[in-house]
Amino acid sequence: MSVRSSPLFTSADASAAARRAARKEARRLIRQKRDDDRARRREEQTAERDTPRDVTHPRAGAHGPAAGRSWLPLRLQAHYATSAGLRVLYPFLADDGLGAIGMYIGRDLLAGASFCFDPWELYRARIVTNPNVLLAGVIGNGKSSLAKSIAWRSLAFGRKTYVPGDIKGEWSVVVEAAGGKVIRLGPGLPTRLNPLDEGTRPTGLSDTQWFTLVKARRRQLLRAIAETVLGGPLAPTEQTALTTALAVAEGAGGTPTLPTVVQHLLAPSPLATDLSSDDVAVLRDDGRRVGHALARMVHGDLAGMFDGESTTRFDPGLPMVSLDLSAFNENDEALPIIMTCASSWLEGALQDAQSGLRWIIYDEAWRLMSVTALLRRMQAQWKLSRAWGIANLAVIHRLSDLDAIGDAGSESRELAAGLLADCSTRIAYRQESDQLGQSAALLGLNPTQRDIIGELGVGEGLWRIGQRAYVVSHALSQTERKLFDTDERMTG
Ligand SMILES: Nc1ncnc2c1ncn2[C@@H]1O[C@H](COP(=O)(O)OP(=O)(O)O)[C@@H](O)[C@H]1O
Ligand SMILES: [Mg+2]
Repeated sequence: MSVRSSPLFTSADASAAARRAARKEARRLIRQKRDDDRARRREEQTAERDTPRDVTHPRAGAHGPAAGRSWLPLRLQAHYATSAGLRVLYPFLADDGLGAIGMYIGRDLLAGASFCFDPWELYRARIVTNPNVLLAGVIGNGKSSLAKSIAWRSLAFGRKTYVPGDIKGEWSVVVEAAGGKVIRLGPGLPTRLNPLDEGTRPTGLSDTQWFTLVKARRRQLLRAIAETVLGGPLAPTEQTALTTALAVAEGAGGTPTLPTVVQHLLAPSPLATDLSSDDVAVLRDDGRRVGHALARMVHGDLAGMFDGESTTRFDPGLPMVSLDLSAFNENDEALPIIMTCASSWLEGALQDAQSGLRWIIYDEAWRLMSVTALLRRMQAQWKLSRAWGIANLAVIHRLSDLDAIGDAGSESRELAAGLLADCSTRIAYRQESDQLGQSAALLGLNPTQRDIIGELGVGEGLWRIGQRAYVVSHALSQTERKLFDTDERMTG
């Protein structure tokens, strides 16, 4: 603060007494300003202290539904107990953990203990009813890193991993480091897969059982492709035409291919079908729409990838196999169809319980889930997977995506709900704030857990395993960090 001398005095006529008085007045003004400032600060502090806070607890503890959780001034000495004892003393607050069985994931942020996970062991212990895992979270929070860690650390336990649709090509380096095989598929690339391949025959199946299984899988796949291209369900007559064309293609001997099925749909012959020419004319009419839909895989933009015999074989003995689809444009609207054909081919090779326990990881599963026909196929596949010793891990962005599929009461909505029910382990990484309520409802979280999933950092997730919940920070090793880094391209 600057103090000017009073204009009543000029340097010429100011007496010493007057100058002294002016200086005194200046000091008084400074003091007064300081006192005023202090008083104002005191007033602000008092006002803040007297403002009622959001949560105030009476000395005797809070009332109401959350009373049991309020802080009380108990004067006790620190007491140490085992988690087995604490969970009895503090039900719903302390959990005895899942033990040390399975691979190490990271730290349990609430208990401070190590967190280990193995869906097959949990299934054996009856903690979960199936080994499948759903992982949801916003982009860049470490979902893929966790999926890769799960696959990588499972190797030590002799568990294999298959990645049926690696859209970003980010799994290739992991698969190669594990000594596995990367199958690269894309326009102009030499690899071709026949989605109608029989696959590996499970041990212990009779001929009839096996052929029924193969036929059902082929029918499901063709129907899913046709419905996806057409954007709606097939009429019963169209389904019959499709089944007939498939049966004729199968009857010709050898493995059927998409071009032969398309040919029998668009130009059915009386000779092959054993029908009168009138019936064949009806069949041709019924199959026209489906035939043209499937023709896209043969003559259209997807030609050359799924329209002939496979150029590669699936080796079930490899520790990891991935289908690298990074040659496709990430926004290609045909990607769900491509992923379906590719995963159907891979799954065909998996239906053998003798091959040991395996992970199938659908990174970016939400692309498949947006299409009813693919959702239906996926769910059918998941139902069977338990018998084959497979754990599916599906990665999506928002849990509410599952609730947004189709209209209430529609088939798709039921399929999505069924898929959620078929995932006993649900991991929620950070969700957008407007998604919290819906996510909490879908996962059956309490309000505290709901708040937690809005505030999670990178690599942190709320794990809902059966009826239990854990907040876990996923720990990456040096090797993994280098191998899994997806930020590299962004940060150079
Ligand atoms: N547990 C973790 N600890 C530290 N950083 C992590 C962890 N998980 C992921 N990250 C970082 O976050 C980046 C994005 O992770 P990513 O798994 O690709 O996310 P998302 O698949 O959810 O988009 C990774 O490159 C990595 O650097
Ligand atoms: Mg990812």
